[in-house]
Amino acid sequence: MSKTKVTHACQLCGAQFPKWSGQCSACGEWNSLVEEVIQSAASARYQGYAAGDPKMTRMASIALEADATRLATGLKELDRVLGGGLVIGSVVLIGGDPGIGKSTVLLQTLCHLSQSVNVLYVTGEESLQQVTLRARRLGLPEEHLLLLADTDVERILKLAQTERPKVLVVDSIQTMHTALLQSAPGAVGQVRESAAQLVKFAKQTQTALFLVGHVTKEGTLAGPRVLEHMVDTVLYFEGEQDSQYRLIRAVKNRFGAVNELGIFAMTDKGLREISNPSAIFLSRYKDPVPGSVIMAAKEGTRPLLVEVQALVDRSYMANPRRVCVGLDSQRLSMLLAVLNRHGGIATHDQDVFVNAVGGVRLTETGADLALLLAVLSSLRHRPMPTTMMTFGEVGLAGEIRPVQSGQERLREASKHGFKVAIIPHANAPKHPIGDMTILPAESLQQAIEHFTQCEEKSTTY
Ligand code: TYD
Ligand code: MG
Repeated sequence: MSKTKVTHACQLCGAQFPKWSGQCSACGEWNSLVEEVIQSAASARYQGYAAGDPKMTRMASIALEADATRLATGLKELDRVLGGGLVIGSVVLIGGDPGIGKSTVLLQTLCHLSQSVNVLYVTGEESLQQVTLRARRLGLPEEHLLLLADTDVERILKLAQTERPKVLVVDSIQTMHTALLQSAPGAVGQVRESAAQLVKFAKQTQTALFLVGHVTKEGTLAGPRVLEHMVDTVLYFEGEQDSQYRLIRAVKNRFGAVNELGIFAMTDKGLREISNPSAIFLSRYKDPVPGSVIMAAKEGTRPLLVEVQALVDRSYMANPRRVCVGLDSQRLSMLLAVLNRHGGIATHDQDVFVNAVGGVRLTETGADLALLLAVLSSLRHRPMPTTMMTFGEVGLAGEIRPVQSGQERLREASKHGFKVAIIPHANAPKHPIGDMTILPAESLQQAIEHFTQCEEKSTTY
């Protein structure tokens, strides 16, 4: 171990120091020094196969294996976020708050996969008894699952080298440590170096590797963020801990669509996939409620109906509050300004709270119109008819801009019984969709007019 040469490098300016200190004396940044390996000791570091001379390959001569290289994980929603199954030899990082269900989903997946291929579950957090207890309670097929409780990367790789699992899970990367560095497990340097060795092994041996990473609220602290560029796929758990629903979003995927959402429910039998996700985000009321608007969102490859709620209330503060849950608060401020300038509706003396129901996070601009109509509905205390939905982007000039996959969104809404849609003019379908009435809008002014008319004859729809 003493042969290993380590340095402390500033993550901002790259300056190197033999000793750690709180401030980088080159650029003045605080807490930016991270322990790194300069020269790997022949003894400890995973060497893989002999490197040999570099060799070029003609692209035409590279054979691709067909889709057989994907494994079904046993959870269709997880297959969906992975882009259609787990690719052999790919490295997947699963991030999320502690206790959200990362270990559970991987245990379910591995037990399923263990029936057809060799798998190894490495746990650095829980004891073998705890993992087994959970598997038994969930009634998972456990006969072929191999477990290892260890946190030493070199030892884990030594075992993996001989056992050659097809799928390897490391839970979690923050508990792993390599003998190359002196810092404690969980330190940025340790996390990165341990991951680098595991990834190298996975690529050289065509092993599918799952790395579990905890994220803190800020998403920074030695978290999986530093690993995102090393792996093929990054999945993040979303959703509130106290809600039953869990969403897995692909934020990076070399083998599928990004922003794809997988939707699960946490039950006493582990994670269950939700096959009709639109239904869970709609909190349907018997009577129409002011401030509630349904929109058709498109997350990844699938349209999804989501309820956007707003509460607008007289503010008694110098700076009225703008609070967003599941939506972008910068965007809200911008949209309220557009509403004022182009719709003539002022909210500068109002507190505005908006929420996307069910813990879903809406990242697309298609939520703009829904957000503004929800604000308007709450401000006027007039509900939107329950059979009405919307989507569309709002520009700074007060124009309503089209969003992608308009038809698909409308079809999803029609399937769930919606009859009226306020949508961007450019998204209006050429052929009727179900028995839906389309109210196309080119400007915010027009959208507000449509909305006002619908409020008035809300009983007719
Ligand atoms: P876990 O997978 O251990 O979280 P992570 O690995 O992301 O830290 O999930 C644990 C949580 O899930 C815990 O709060 C209990 C809950 N849970 C259930 O509700 N039902 C179940 O069947 C299981 C296994 C866990
Ligand atoms: Mg865990």
